[in-house]
Amino acid sequence: MPSTLPEGEPVPADGRLPAAARAEVGQRPLSIYVHVPFCTTRCGYCDFNTYTASELGTQPGASRVSYVDAAIQELDLAVRVLGPGAPPVSTIFVGGGTPTLLPPDDLGRLVAEIRNRFGLTADAEVTTESNPESIDAAGLMRLRELGFTRISFGMQSAVPYVLTVLDRVHTPGRPEQAVREARAAGFTDISLDLIYGTPGESLADWATSLESALAARPDHISAYALIVEDGTRLAARIRRGELPMTDDDDLADKYLLAEERLSAAGLSAYEVSNWSTGPATRCRHNLTYWRSDHWWGIGPGAHSHVGGVRWWNVKHPAAYAGRIAERVSPAYAREVLGGEDRRVERVLLELRLAEGLDTTLLTESERDRIPGLITRGLADAVQDRLVLTVQGRLLADGVVRDLLD
Ligand SMILES: C[S@@+](CC[C@H](N)C(=O)[O-])C[C@H]1O[C@@H](n2cnc3c(N)ncnc32)[C@H](O)[C@@H]1O
Ligand code: SF4
Repeated sequence: MPSTLPEGEPVPADGRLPAAARAEVGQRPLSIYVHVPFCTTRCGYCDFNTYTASELGTQPGASRVSYVDAAIQELDLAVRVLGPGAPPVSTIFVGGGTPTLLPPDDLGRLVAEIRNRFGLTADAEVTTESNPESIDAAGLMRLRELGFTRISFGMQSAVPYVLTVLDRVHTPGRPEQAVREARAAGFTDISLDLIYGTPGESLADWATSLESALAARPDHISAYALIVEDGTRLAARIRRGELPMTDDDDLADKYLLAEERLSAAGLSAYEVSNWSTGPATRCRHNLTYWRSDHWWGIGPGAHSHVGGVRWWNVKHPAAYAGRIAERVSPAYAREVLGGEDRRVERVLLELRLAEGLDTTLLTESERDRIPGLITRGLADAVQDRLVLTVQGRLLADGVVRDLLD
């Protein structure tokens, strides 16, 4: 089951932003995330906001068929709330769930409607996530024709046992074939998602997954440590003793192996969990999150950020469709960050990037802690930026705790 939403302060029915946040519209790039909350089956480790057909049942509005129309109506709300100062959109990311359960033409309609309302920058990045078994060569061709520039496939592992523990339904080899099909369709920005640390996965299994992913020659790889989320089937199986719990030392060894193999193959880490063949193939959409730019999240459970205001939508597709039909904001609650909260958040996020943290963001007493981090081999000072070493990346959250007042 998807986890519950955080509480926050209420959002006005018309979605209006506080004046100070609205005044910041146009001062930073604008991105749009569209959440597609549908999957064929739920993977046992996943607590993302997604629903199978049987979970949705026949509740009004909760259908894949009517979803894109509801999402487009939220775009109209975004136009009203952001006002005439909204810049053209720099990146679009359609994520899930499994976006490619929707027909390519529906996904293309979303892109076209975003373009009609906001315009797109000349070099806009337009990504969709895809489960490799949910798309074929013809579908990939169509997505490319409809303006998608980037595709991210969920591969997770190349090892049959690991895929079974994760409840992944694709056969080994299909993600690599999907990369070839995407390349033939003209995509030059192709990414694979991998997960390491699945119970029972050996270091050799992880090496096999890395080698298989690299053999497909993607432009980008995301490698995530498995998080055992409360309330998932995986957590229940671990609690019952059917599977061993993930182990921090094992996760650290696997992270270091990823860094070694990926960098040897010419991919460098530009964020703790993300590697690319060069600056041009970084995921610019995800960089907007780490740089605290502005983004509007469309769809059930989607999160947004504009000018220090963060808000999140109601989670269930039926509740979302109901709000949209009543022409009220689908936002469930929001948080208005003060200056100090925004500074701490920037430290937390920018330290994850290879370009590092601008040390002028730190207080004097925080800056005094930098030499200690350098002596412990966790960070390097590069001009006026603080950049994590590989050891520091392993302990990124701890480094932030040690650094901040
Ligand atoms: C939420 S999925 C959406 C895309 C697509 N449905 C898929 O599964 O590939 C995005 C990525 O999040 C990662 N992910 C999901 N749950 C995770 C977990 N519990 N621990 C680590 N990574 C996770 C997976 O690598 C997945 O590819
Ligand atoms: S396919 Fe992706 S979003 Fe759907 S349940 Fe699996 S990990 Fe979660």
